[in-house]
Amino acid sequence: MSLQDKLEALKQETVAKIDAAQDLKALNQIRVETLGKKGPITEVLRGMKDLSAEERPKVGSFANEIRDELTAKIEEKKIELEKAELDRTLAAESIDITLPGKAVKQGVRHVLTQIMEEIEDIFIGMGYQVVEGSEVESDHYNFERMNLPKDHPARDMQDTFYISDEVLIRTHTSPVQARTMEKHDFSKGPLRMISPGKVFRRDTDDATHSHQFHQIEGLVVDKNITMADLKGTLEVMMKKMFGEDREIRLRPSYFPFTEPSVEVDVSCFKCGGAGCNVCKYTGWIEILGAGMVHPNVLRMSGIDPEVYSGFAFGLGPDRVAMLRYGVNDIRNFYQNDLRFLGQFKGE
Ligand code: DAH
Repeated sequence: MSLQDKLEALKQETVAKIDAAQDLKALNQIRVETLGKKGPITEVLRGMKDLSAEERPKVGSFANEIRDELTAKIEEKKIELEKAELDRTLAAESIDITLPGKAVKQGVRHVLTQIMEEIEDIFIGMGYQVVEGSEVESDHYNFERMNLPKDHPARDMQDTFYISDEVLIRTHTSPVQARTMEKHDFSKGPLRMISPGKVFRRDTDDATHSHQFHQIEGLVVDKNITMADLKGTLEVMMKKMFGEDREIRLRPSYFPFTEPSVEVDVSCFKCGGAGCNVCKYTGWIEILGAGMVHPNVLRMSGIDPEVYSGFAFGLGPDRVAMLRYGVNDIRNFYQNDLRFLGQFKGE
């Protein structure tokens, strides 16, 4: 077979392979095999040295022609395959914009968080700092420093979970009072703080008791703080929380860490005082405990009660939420049922 015939046969064979190529990889393989340095065309061109001087240019130009033809053919096929590949990708990745979308579910802050933040805002507006306390507390701060020595009978009302004899989970937010007082530098101004957080008691859970609940502690200490300051502050807070028409009343009470101590009632926000189910037909709702900081408590925190005085209060956000939204079981706040929690969308 002459070299020309060989080349012609090679061309036919390669064209058939190119036509049959299914993808770019296969096509590239054909290009390398046919036109590459080790391919048959190069081989033929190499064999030309044995040809006569007059045959050589003929075969040479024929071989070049075939190489150009095959190169062009491969290029053509490459474009065709690339287009097919793109079409396949587009078809595979197409999206149906007529399908209904998936709604993004947006959560809400827990209703108790909402109430606590609302109360924080009221007090920040009056120049208070918001202090964070620790849920794990020592007997020393939780009881002793709040004027509840080891054998004090009022400890019975606040049994809790003990980690050791001296370490417990706090029964109230009051220990934050002691921790804040002992650090306060009165040369920088009066002490005004609130401290919201979780507290724990050894309670049998029922509709109005939970072994875990919340409190917001409030404390102001400075020279010449009187009960009038306490009453005025609480009145502002209650009006902001329950409406401008609200009034408060103070009843005598007892807490070991305040003297005198008071129980604070707010006029009913539902009936305005006429009597209804929310206020149990008394016109008043019992809302918090408060009083003037006991001299012992000041003294134990390194503050001279002859020079300084203060007031304190403790408020239960769980109770506020129950009253405001008519929730009749405190356990709803702690069961994480989204059907319940999702109703409180906030402002
Ligand atoms: N610590 C009290 C309790 O858990 C609540 C309380 C009452 C806090 C009176 C106070 C206060 O700061 O003055 O029952």
